[in-house]
Amino acid sequence: MNEMSKPATQTVTVTLDGTNRSTTLPLLPGTIGPAVLDIRKLYADLGVFTYDPGYGGTAACESKITYIDGDQGILLHRGYPIEQLAEKSSFLEVAYLLLHGDLPTKSEYETFVKGVTYHTMIHEQLRRFYDGFRRDAHPMAVMTAVVGAMSAFYHDSLDINDPRHREISAFRLIAKVPTIAAWAYKYSIGQPFMYPRNDLGYAENFLYMLNAVPAEPYQINPVLARAMDRILILHADHEQNASTSTVRLAGSTGANPFACIAAGIASLWGPAHGGANEAVLKMLAEIGSVKNIPDFISKVKDKNSHVRLMGFGHRVYKNYDPRAKIMQQTCHEVLAELGIKDEPMLDMAMELEKIALNDDYFVSRKLYPNVDFYSGIILKAMGIPTSMFTVLFAVARTVGWISQWKEMMEDPSQRIGRPRQLYTGATARDVTPIDARG
Ligand code: ACO
Repeated sequence: MNEMSKPATQTVTVTLDGTNRSTTLPLLPGTIGPAVLDIRKLYADLGVFTYDPGYGGTAACESKITYIDGDQGILLHRGYPIEQLAEKSSFLEVAYLLLHGDLPTKSEYETFVKGVTYHTMIHEQLRRFYDGFRRDAHPMAVMTAVVGAMSAFYHDSLDINDPRHREISAFRLIAKVPTIAAWAYKYSIGQPFMYPRNDLGYAENFLYMLNAVPAEPYQINPVLARAMDRILILHADHEQNASTSTVRLAGSTGANPFACIAAGIASLWGPAHGGANEAVLKMLAEIGSVKNIPDFISKVKDKNSHVRLMGFGHRVYKNYDPRAKIMQQTCHEVLAELGIKDEPMLDMAMELEKIALNDDYFVSRKLYPNVDFYSGIILKAMGIPTSMFTVLFAVARTVGWISQWKEMMEDPSQRIGRPRQLYTGATARDVTPIDARG
């Protein structure tokens, strides 16, 4: 047990069959959710490790930030339901909450917003990094590289053991990722970079840097700005997912925080994780129209086809992802605001959802829409290209990553992450010189 957790109230005794070796392991209770079996002395007592590929049954850390009940479809940040946060707070309030544990008071919020806003510009030297990329580079490649390159700057405040330095790194990351992301997009389409405007809100400024050009005034649409803010809230954190675990694993070595977040961005890129909303739109484009849906569903159900219904299923949610419901509602709001009445993508998505929710293949496997099922349609309607979808996710998740990194750095039980393995390779053998090999 470490200083953060409550003492064990129960134990589990494990006996190694056929031997007289056994050990009693503490069961550590959380505030909600299942208790976890503390196996730290298992190897010392029994000489065995646990085997859990994909870590589906393993808690790698203790955390107070986010709680998910996948069976019930519940997502809480610091105890607050995601539905309430999406309705009643802004992305920067959620950022403060994740970092500091409580929602800010008005004056705490103003100070926090000022702290973030002060750091929105990126170093001019960093700006030149963009010229090294091909114009057709995927913006996630640019994001990974430019955020990673931030680790070569800011040497004045990189003592990871200094809480104030950690705070400044958090400000820098939260403030600069929208600028880095928007510039990755501008570079890909050959438009001038738009410098951040600190008179705008976080989501407004992001939309401005993505869409404005110096030649014309840019009008911010408040409905779209609110939708963007909500998308950022919905993606802000999701406990120990692949990219967050990557950030923690990299951070556990004492690595530079910007390098850790770059590792998280790389991990997020894959289609099974952050790339899914991009994959949803590709899938909808391939399906083409509502009439082709039954054929597509048959393909998904055919084990030999390797086709998946993208935007469906989740490692943790075995119920409707609560974020997907808010996304669906936001999707309708955005399309109404933009006057889009017949959006074939939305028609197809709704029909796919209807069929899948009633089909035994999906029902029996507890496959429900996840957050990505509708987000792609919203972003497409807002004029954001598909290649930028995962980038937006990265902008939002930076808040979660840096909060989890901060929590890890403050955890007295933190040690370098170092999983074990089940070795099934060759046993020890001798090297034969190359000329003598048959
Ligand atoms: N379409 C069709 N079948 C699926 C899907 C899907 N989207 N997802 C899972 N299944 C099936 C699997 O084939 C498997 O069936 P089987 O038991 O007959 O072999 C069963 O459901 C369990 O699937 P697993 O792959 O074991 O589930 P896992 O928890 O490892 O995967 C994942 C979760 C990766 C998200 C998966 O559901 C998937 O690939 N979904 C599509 C991609 C996607 O939308 N990703 C976004 C995740 S959310 C996020 O990152 C923000």
